Amino acid sequence: MDKLIINGGRTLTGEVFISGAKNAALAIIPAALIIEGTCRIENLPDIDDVRVYIEILRGLGASVTYIDKNTVEIDCSYLNCSHVPYNNTVKKLRASYYLLGALANRFNVIEVPLPGGDDFGTRPIDQHIKGFETLGAEVAIEHGIIRLNADRLKGASVYMDVVSVGATINIMLSAVKAEGITVIENAAREPHIVDVANFLNAAGADIKGAGTDVIKIKGVNSLNKNVVHNIIPDQIEAGTYLIMGAATGGSVTVRNVIPTHLESLTAKLTEMNLEIEEGDDWVRVHNTGNLCKANIKTLPYPGFPTDLQPMVTVLLSQAEGTSFVTEGVWDSRFQYIDELKRMGANIKVEGRIAVIEGKTVLSGAPVKSRDLRGCAALITAGLVATGQTEVQELYYMDRGYEDFASKLKSLGADIKRVTEQPAVYF
Ligand code: UD1
Repeated sequence: MDKLIINGGRTLTGEVFISGAKNAALAIIPAALIIEGTCRIENLPDIDDVRVYIEILRGLGASVTYIDKNTVEIDCSYLNCSHVPYNNTVKKLRASYYLLGALANRFNVIEVPLPGGDDFGTRPIDQHIKGFETLGAEVAIEHGIIRLNADRLKGASVYMDVVSVGATINIMLSAVKAEGITVIENAAREPHIVDVANFLNAAGADIKGAGTDVIKIKGVNSLNKNVVHNIIPDQIEAGTYLIMGAATGGSVTVRNVIPTHLESLTAKLTEMNLEIEEGDDWVRVHNTGNLCKANIKTLPYPGFPTDLQPMVTVLLSQAEGTSFVTEGVWDSRFQYIDELKRMGANIKVEGRIAVIEGKTVLSGAPVKSRDLRGCAALITAGLVATGQTEVQELYYMDRGYEDFASKLKSLGADIKRVTEQPAVYF
């Protein structure tokens, strides 16, 4: 089992190149199943979740060739399986639910196990199911498996009761070849929804309005154009390094980003007295001292992303004053805070609100991550803390950050990954 050893207190400075967006990749890979031909996907992040999804596609009969570690060619002309088994690959992945929407374009009956992934309380999929049913599918859940009878889907209007990224993408996927026009109202507007729509449109789909709250999909007969698609930069990875730079009192530039995707974060960083500069494809944060409190509520895009909430909470522990962070997307996403408290953070959680008293001195400790972004928060705390922090359960970090330790090292962090030999008892 690997762990990270961080000797804290180093100021992060320099530039870091941002990888392709994990959440876009995890929707575009299954979207490739709709295309009866070859597509080339570039700027794919080299992370475990992507590798897992590629294995799932291979299991369905797709041919996938790695051109280099960030580029694949996928050929889904022939698929030979519509029943996805519940095995070690699929149970790790929340985004496995996109297989339902994608495969509905290729098979009449599909079976996919209910999703795995990070644990932040109940992760309902009722809006996905409502969408499929509105398009005419029959949905049954038995023994942990969702069975979709998707013979002849027909376009229809779907109103989403909650703004859900997953359901918006899934319904969009299922409607690509449905007869007539599908309208998704109260759709999520995240940048990766636009990326998925661009990918599908390049292959011959007819999707309009992605990035707004009304998406219109005109069903087409087939998707058969060869596509080359470059995945958008990961705004959460970029935000992670900006927050880490700010928290360590440094100056960090993220390159290969779309600055508008980071606006909700950069606006808050400015409010906290940090200096922000940006160009066409880069953003720089500079900590000049006097970090001050801020109140933050996570919301669907363009609101403050729930995925940056754990890291920004650590940053606020280094600001003067009392800050309030409200989790507006998930019921429970503060599991990492108990570990932060063991490092000296003064944070109280009441329901969906964390009250953070700053400024506190954090001290290094052995800590365990329980989800991907919680792990990034513990690493942020380790970078800030005095002494040594050991972050365990790196499986979560490997799911979503490409070369995390090496990128941090290039910014001046004292960090190393070590493999622990399991204890042997006689
Ligand atoms: C969400 C985030 C996304 C983030 C991901 C992982 C939002 C809007 N989405 O996406 O940015 O990358 O978590 O952290 O910020 N819900 C239902 N019924 C459904 C589906 C969802 O009630 O069928 C609810 C969920 O309980 C949650 C909210 O809708 O409270 C948002 O869920 P959703 O956007 O689907 O989650 P993800 O796609 O995982």
